[in-house]
Amino acid sequence: MLDIQKSAAAMPAIEPATIHREDYRPPAWFVPGVDLDFQLGLEKTIVRSKLDVRRSKSAKFEEPLLLNGDDITPVSVKVDGAVRTDWKLVDGDMELPLTGAAHLVEIEVELDPSTNTQLMGLYASNGMLCTQCEAEGFRRITFLPDRPDVLSRYQVRMEGDKSLFPILLCNGDKVQEGEGDDGRHWVQWNDPWPKPSYLFALVAGDLVANKDSFTTRSGKPVELNIWVRDGDLDRTDHAMQALKDSMLWDEQVYGREYDLGLFNIVAVSDFNMGAMENKGLNVFNSRYILADPEVATDADFDGIEGVVAHEYFHNWSGNRVTCRDWFQLSLKEGFTVYRDQSFSADMGSAALKRIEDVRILRAAQFPEDSGPLAHPIRPESYQEISNFYTATVYNKGAEVIRMMATMLGAEQFRQGTDLYFDRHDGEAATCENFVAAMEEGGNIDFSQFRRWYSTPGTPRVSAKLHHDPQTGIATLDVKQMLTTGGGKPAPSEMVIPLRTALLDPETGAHDGEHLLILDRAEQSFTFEGQKDHPILSINRNFSAPIVMENDRTSEELAFLSAHDDDPFARFEAMQQLMTGYLTAQVSGTPGDRDIILHAVGAVLADEDMDRAFKAELVLLPSEAFLGDQMAEVDPQAIYDARERLRGKIAVQFERKFRRLYNQCVPEIFSLSADARADRRLRNVTLGYLAASHVEDAAELAYEQYRNADNMTAMQGALAVLTNMDCPERKIAFEDFYKRFKDNALVVDKWFTMQAVSQRSDALKRIEALSRHPDFTLANPNRVRALYGAFTGNQVRFHDVSGKGYGLIADIVIELDKQNPQTAARFIPPLGRWRRYERERSELMRLALEKIAAQPDLSKDVSEQVHKSLA
Ligand code: ARG
Ligand code: ZN
Repeated sequence: MLDIQKSAAAMPAIEPATIHREDYRPPAWFVPGVDLDFQLGLEKTIVRSKLDVRRSKSAKFEEPLLLNGDDITPVSVKVDGAVRTDWKLVDGDMELPLTGAAHLVEIEVELDPSTNTQLMGLYASNGMLCTQCEAEGFRRITFLPDRPDVLSRYQVRMEGDKSLFPILLCNGDKVQEGEGDDGRHWVQWNDPWPKPSYLFALVAGDLVANKDSFTTRSGKPVELNIWVRDGDLDRTDHAMQALKDSMLWDEQVYGREYDLGLFNIVAVSDFNMGAMENKGLNVFNSRYILADPEVATDADFDGIEGVVAHEYFHNWSGNRVTCRDWFQLSLKEGFTVYRDQSFSADMGSAALKRIEDVRILRAAQFPEDSGPLAHPIRPESYQEISNFYTATVYNKGAEVIRMMATMLGAEQFRQGTDLYFDRHDGEAATCENFVAAMEEGGNIDFSQFRRWYSTPGTPRVSAKLHHDPQTGIATLDVKQMLTTGGGKPAPSEMVIPLRTALLDPETGAHDGEHLLILDRAEQSFTFEGQKDHPILSINRNFSAPIVMENDRTSEELAFLSAHDDDPFARFEAMQQLMTGYLTAQVSGTPGDRDIILHAVGAVLADEDMDRAFKAELVLLPSEAFLGDQMAEVDPQAIYDARERLRGKIAVQFERKFRRLYNQCVPEIFSLSADARADRRLRNVTLGYLAASHVEDAAELAYEQYRNADNMTAMQGALAVLTNMDCPERKIAFEDFYKRFKDNALVVDKWFTMQAVSQRSDALKRIEALSRHPDFTLANPNRVRALYGAFTGNQVRFHDVSGKGYGLIADIVIELDKQNPQTAARFIPPLGRWRRYERERSELMRLALEKIAAQPDLSKDVSEQVHKSLA
């Protein structure tokens, strides 16, 4: 019986056990065949399993069979047809003594999906049944060696009430179906590909499909279905297009073809993460499937394209070649993020995509890498693996793959991935296997490069360029240093590929890019034939995930922001120019504001510049990013300095902003790059017009809201109004709610747009919203919409009263009782307490202490909170 109440509340008060990477042992038992029978019901589901278990040749003969379980008890256990009672449960897992080399184990388990609030294992969402098994959720369904190096062929029979569950889906191919008694029906599924249990999935519900098809390059037809609730069908076309684009792209770019006749996607509304790559049956958080212009922003459309691609690409990088153990998570996640980033870059603007990827890395991963939860992309230990689905494993993992690709070049990188897929197809592999295949296939030595897998922390690189006018030689002196999260020293000799160019100080031209490979603590590179002192463009396209510290002057940065031919470097120069000034302002040092105004003016005046790129260039660095540059963070001081500069830019260029605002007039809605660029620039200029405090700012925003035929424009207007003191704010938010109250994903936006308000009454508003009838802790999207957005609201979350911290601590404590995985995600914002100024730091620590003092914390929260305080 699945007893959630007990499960969540009765965790031991002692510290959870730590699992170490070096303790890995191969399984003693394999399970080549798994046969499952589900009698489905929302409140009672019976699971009967038949496991074909085989003792490993290398196992000790007396080793019992270990079948993982979590909050389940067997109704019956049989071995080779005979009832057994000599099993025991140890920490939820079943130990079953077996004497032979091969047995048939039959187990029956009863579950209550309706009380499964953790959303791991089999659970009910909106009247349907669905599963989430990665990483260790299968053991909440039935007993099995729930580890990724045990691969099995699954045969699954699902039976349930036809009116409740007209659609019954599982992995693989549908082989048979039929009607039973009392309005029940059943379907038999067979997945020919051996897979680990974390890739198992089933869905039962009242669903309709957007149906399409794809023919693989070898001519095999694939049936494609995106399953949603009845009213959502017309919001699935974008996801379907993304799926077909991904299938083609993986054939063209990686030579990887789909391997089943059927590919199903299901959208569910209650989901802890973004989506899940279960074999042949991807399960998605509905926010990454459902979109039309009226309810989804351009960013939402991009998110859908990226996540659909990500899950599809896992079919090779994750499913066909899976992970040996969870320490290898980045093997599939880092690589797959790299693959989805490359795909999105190919589908749209590579420059904008790279800027966005780096923004995410800096916002989510850099803080992780410099805080108490820092870990290498291949962690050495964990207590709860769910806590390691992090920006480090995913996004820094992707950067590590990208560096290999940069060093190898496209052709050799492809030879490396071909070798990797061919050599490890059907296996559970390690990060080491991947690097070895890259070395061999790509013909390169990555011995030292491997340190990226074992070293946490963001390397800092300083570069100084000298020029000798006599000889025409420019010398670049480079130093690298690295401290890990805890301030501990680390190897200072990482391999760091830096794409570099020396720009002519007059024209901005250069004679080609150099790929400099740093592999020592200090080194120098020389460049001949430089008549004048060149201007240094370095880490172009963000070729390495590091912090660059170079002593370029404001004039040089302004020059680069106008002339660099690498779009990322151009954007970066502008960011550095602004960051340098703002961090100086916060610490009370004067700086040169005029040069920023001049640079922004030049960008605004550039008629040839792509409008979307223009919008990126004039945006100020975020408060969080600025804080991350400082040894001691004072969010209020950062907010004030940033608002002052924003206001100054706004006033200075008010007429220009207004002209641009009026030029980006929306015509008929389209997702073309041009139309999207217009919407982006229009929202950015609206933001500046509001910051200039022109009298009609509220009116402009309200008019934009009222006339909008798309969510991007609506949200842009609300983003401005939410910070303003004006009657239009209230009217617009009320209208927005009324209009969209039946669409959960848009109601999420309604919560978020209020949670990010920088107004002084923001905290009171959050408290009121937490009592709103639409607020519920049961839905992770809703929780993130309100509280996740709030923790990103630097100036209000870090209100010096400490009330914001208290609010989050209370939410963690309450949510932990029902959904530990999502609760634990709220610890890191508090976990950075050491970086804040004294008063706030102490209040943040106290909030953590309050959580730590709770009895019965989940493993998830316990691990994060104790590591944060340690
Ligand atoms: N493998 C999924 C993805 O990246 C994420 C699954 C996360 N599950 C979890 N329990 N943390 O596409
Ligand atoms: Zn993934």
